[in-house]
Amino acid sequence: MLWPESERWEALVSIFARLARLSGYGLLVTPVLEEAGLFRRGIGDESEVVGKEMYELTDRGGRTLALRPEGTAPVVRAFVQHRPQVPWKVWYLTPAFRYERPQAGRYRQHHQLGAEVLGSDDPDLDVEVISLAAGFYRALGLARVELSVNSMGCPADRPAYVAALRAHLAQRRQALCDEHRERFELNPLRVLDCKRPQCRAATQDAPRMVDFLDESCAAHLERVREGLDASGIAHVLEPRLVRGLDYYTRTTFEFAATALDSAQNAIGGGGRYDGLTEAIGGPPTPGIGFGIGIERLLLACDAEQCFAVSPRAPDVFVVDVTGGAAARDLSVQLRAAGLAALRSYDDRSLKAQLKLADRSGARYAVIVGPREVEDETVTVRLLGEGKQTTVSREELVEWMRREVLD
Ligand code: HAM
Repeated sequence: MLWPESERWEALVSIFARLARLSGYGLLVTPVLEEAGLFRRGIGDESEVVGKEMYELTDRGGRTLALRPEGTAPVVRAFVQHRPQVPWKVWYLTPAFRYERPQAGRYRQHHQLGAEVLGSDDPDLDVEVISLAAGFYRALGLARVELSVNSMGCPADRPAYVAALRAHLAQRRQALCDEHRERFELNPLRVLDCKRPQCRAATQDAPRMVDFLDESCAAHLERVREGLDASGIAHVLEPRLVRGLDYYTRTTFEFAATALDSAQNAIGGGGRYDGLTEAIGGPPTPGIGFGIGIERLLLACDAEQCFAVSPRAPDVFVVDVTGGAAARDLSVQLRAAGLAALRSYDDRSLKAQLKLADRSGARYAVIVGPREVEDETVTVRLLGEGKQTTVSREELVEWMRREVLD
């Protein structure tokens, strides 16, 4: 990620950090490498992300490690290890690695901004978490974002549903895509997630998880939807939304950017994982969160022509034709006073330095020639307008601060 495109990343991350802080989240940084077993237990061996896409390696000590394919399991691992007070609210920025077929919007290394909360199963927290993501998209200026919501129920609700779904698919076996015709029995939920038209058609009128929820899961979903409505967050119930990771329970959700091609338009997703902490050896602790793919998000911004960040120009460019000592000292003093100051190097000619000053976009050039050295002054030129004035060298920093920062 090169400058100036990286300016957008910087702006994006600071917007997210600010919103996360307003809701009480702190930054968490965990290692890129984890024991591969963490993801096997947490996300599930049967999931595409672990079964087909995880980067694994053996270290010199013979341990099997994985480059993290996602951000949630490492957060939960850190929770189990450090046992912080609950509710524990964290946000993160992390690279994630998946051995997928690369294409626009899908990369083998992508980056996620995410947030997780451990220690509460209050459905109003689900609304709060979804609102954080929705507010972030809004802050970037995205308008064409659709939110789908579903419930995966509790583990106890799942077997009856999976059996009903399996029976439905068995009757349509020949209509499924090649992969799922052979494999649907193993994990029928995967078929709901399959984007191929055959599977989409075969699951059109499939049994819906929401019809198999027990009373408390149904009430939970109801309260979440009510809260979203009350917060003015438009959403649709999408009964086929299962998401690719096996840890989900109850609320699941996904944000799609409709300005992007539908194959790669998920710009964020998440849900509850109330059994995950226990599954990786911690005390029973409910959790919920989301991950947002930065690259895809920026593609969506491009498609909607929003969130264009122009590189910040420096405040001042110091031009010194007396050997460089004045440029060296003045740029340090200006920066110490909070001004963005550039200079050129290698003793260029006046003309060359002024050209660089122009090209940098700086508002002012501070010019030091032999006469200025003699008088202990500098010439300040308002670039673009060509107006100039003489300022004593001693007063320059204060003068600039008044002009630029006030
Ligand atoms: P995920 O849906 O697998 O969820 O990924 C989250 C987001 O990362 C996606 O919506 C998408 O924007 C982006 N993404 C995923 N794979 C790629 C890729 N290969 N290239 C570019 N972008 C990609 C998770 O990872 C969960 N950990 C989210 C979560 C947090 N659930 C609960 N808490």
